[in-house]
Amino acid sequence: MRKLCVVGSGYVGLVTGACFADLGNEVSLVDIDERKIEMLLAGNMPIYEPGLAELVQRNSAAQRMHFSTCYAEALENAEFVFICVGTPSGVDGEADLQYVRAAAQTIAETMRHPLIVINKSTVPVGTGDWTREIITSKQPQPIDFSVVSCPEFLREGSAIADFLQPDRTVLGSTDRAAAESVAELYTPVNAPVVITDLRTAEMIKYASNAFLATRISFINEISIICEQLGADVTEVARGMGFDKRIGPHFLEAGIGFGGSCFPKDVKALANMAQTHGMHPQLLNAVMEINAFQRRQITLKAREMLGGSVNGRTLAILGLAFKQNTDDTRESPSLTVARSLLNQGALVKAYDPVAMENASRDLPGIQLCQSPYDAADGSDALLVLTPWNEFKHLDMRRIHSSMAQAIVIDGRNMYNPAELRKLGFAYRGVGRGYNGEG
Ligand code: UGA
Repeated sequence: MRKLCVVGSGYVGLVTGACFADLGNEVSLVDIDERKIEMLLAGNMPIYEPGLAELVQRNSAAQRMHFSTCYAEALENAEFVFICVGTPSGVDGEADLQYVRAAAQTIAETMRHPLIVINKSTVPVGTGDWTREIITSKQPQPIDFSVVSCPEFLREGSAIADFLQPDRTVLGSTDRAAAESVAELYTPVNAPVVITDLRTAEMIKYASNAFLATRISFINEISIICEQLGADVTEVARGMGFDKRIGPHFLEAGIGFGGSCFPKDVKALANMAQTHGMHPQLLNAVMEINAFQRRQITLKAREMLGGSVNGRTLAILGLAFKQNTDDTRESPSLTVARSLLNQGALVKAYDPVAMENASRDLPGIQLCQSPYDAADGSDALLVLTPWNEFKHLDMRRIHSSMAQAIVIDGRNMYNPAELRKLGFAYRGVGRGYNGEG
């Protein structure tokens, strides 16, 4: 059992804290947001993540997880402190480090014994060195500490499984012994450990996210070409994925990537390159294709409705940026909804868990009780988040309730031939219609 402090109760902080507690450690989670800490103390979750509430409740009941707004209390006897605060995009796409700076300063002012400070937030290359300088300059008297970068690779929606069965753990530090102590904490998860220097570890995170985003933009570009040439991108991706050098993952064409990570991290990496005099051509293209992919959906809706959506009723299924989360940050679905509203459409929408978040951003949409409720009387049905519950809808019932039987399948969830057989006009993404089926 080791004593850990986790700064920040967002996705990364809560999942890291709860999982380390579940592995038998004692974790004190600190956040300056009183509302979040009050919620957690009352046994409520500030975010939706499958399995997280049970994990937090179980470990709080076992006294392995504590919540506080007081750093001094949370740092007491801690050997390790994990910084898990947000790094939003600044005006030019650069990562905004104000929360990392505030956490480092408070740790420096509060620490009373040697500590290993581990940064899990996605931060620009060089931030580890900068964190070390901040802590050194803000300590009232010198106390030994080391900084380790341990970038996070969790995905929303499967964060707990990702923590407990990661593909790898990356640790960067100028202090090898400190990195090895952190590696020991991760021994129970039994994954390969890469120990490297601080800057390289920070870069591994950006390069990984940018590479995954590139795969998505690549297959999305292929989808546009498929559509024009009468090929089906879902089959193209399947055929490509068996090649071991390519692999099957992250090759789903759709409405583009969203969320709090990919858009922000690709932008931040491009910004880092630009500020050092480089021209990140590929990263710029990845972002451009991603924006184009969202626009495509609105263009398809316009085209299928005779040139305009003005005065039409459009039903959107799915508001979260992906399935199994209530997160609507940078959600492509909201971009589509906003654009339709701006063009004079009435937008009805349904999402299993993200409606509250979406209506805060976009009060103009009409929220519905079910997919059927959304489809009822609509001129087109746009499926934009691939929730499992949308896979097996009663499409006959939907067909009979719509004003016009049009389906725009932004995530290629349906069999085009089956829908056409039921009488729908169907458009997917990258599924060129060659007259068959
Ligand atoms: C992503 C990374 O996958 C994590 O490894 C990383 O830790 C995290 O960012 C982060 O930096 O914190 P996440 O944003 O939760 O995780 O979501 P993903 O599952 O990676 O999906 C991102 C977006 O890409 C979603 O909008 C999704 O719908 C889209 N996507 C994904 C596609 O359009 N096609 C695909 O084939 C895969």
